[in-house]
Amino acid sequence: MAQLEGQVALVTGAASGIGRAAAVLFASEGARVVAADIDAGGVRTTAERVRAAGGEALAVEADVSRSADVQALVGEALSAYGRLDCAYNNAGMSGPAHSVAEMPEEQFERALDVMLKGVFLCMKYELPPMLGRGSGAIVNCASGAGLIGFPGQSGYVAAKHGVIGLTKAAALEYSASGIRVNAICPGTARTGIVEQWVGDNPELEREVTALHPIGRIAEPEEIAQAALWLCTERASFVTGSALSVDGGYVAQ
Ligand SMILES: NC(=O)c1ccc[n+]([C@@H]2O[C@H](COP(=O)([O-])OP(=O)(O)OC[C@H]3O[C@@H](n4cnc5c(N)ncnc54)[C@H](O)[C@@H]3O)[C@@H](O)[C@H]2O)c1
Repeated sequence: MAQLEGQVALVTGAASGIGRAAAVLFASEGARVVAADIDAGGVRTTAERVRAAGGEALAVEADVSRSADVQALVGEALSAYGRLDCAYNNAGMSGPAHSVAEMPEEQFERALDVMLKGVFLCMKYELPPMLGRGSGAIVNCASGAGLIGFPGQSGYVAAKHGVIGLTKAAALEYSASGIRVNAICPGTARTGIVEQWVGDNPELEREVTALHPIGRIAEPEEIAQAALWLCTERASFVTGSALSVDGGYVAQ
């Protein structure tokens, strides 16, 4: 039987990269998927891909840093499908590298707004319908940069470290109510964020690859598989964890 048969899954940042891969994967496992992103055109394309593969998806434009957007997003999910079983809070962004003294305050704030407050807001509105049913699974997207430092990206690193703390706090608050909350910590995956960063610089790509003992970077689907597992009953005893999915990057 499909692992998410009959369930409703919400995925943020679903217009591209890991989020799109997760939306397609969750749907292939039987979930009706609510795919959300600030990029309305991109998330519509994701929903079309899900449907073309025989699945069911609703595309919603939402900025996860805005409370009203996230509240409306969860409301749309409930109006369309009547329940919410799992959520993968994945939306994220990168920015130009600056050391702390040169980091523009707005860039730092935006990183925290989207990747830390955004995860908080998603959980804030996802949890009530899950509590109503007495079950649910939430997976928050952190990063290897949530476990160790990375120069030039203080806002990103601070947000991702924060996601792991937020995940642990929520896991403790809701584990007795049947809701599991976990984080995943991806290493480098071949997505828009990384292609923007590496560009067509083969030397930089070699350097990034060398950071991963497994000898390559990930495909987005390999990260999505970890999010899927944490959403399913197969991970029924896992909560409050920060699962590295990184080819050995932070084990060094
Ligand atoms: N690719 C990697 O190497 C890597 C490594 C570690 C962690 N991550 C994390 O994985 C997640 C997905 O990133 P990706 O690599 O697939 O990148 P991506 O750029 O392909 O996808 C990120 C998506 O988030 C969306 N988004 C950005 N701001 C948003 C907002 N305010 N509201 C709603 N959606 C918004 C973007 O439009 C985009 O579709 C991010 O949280 C990222 O930090 C990625």
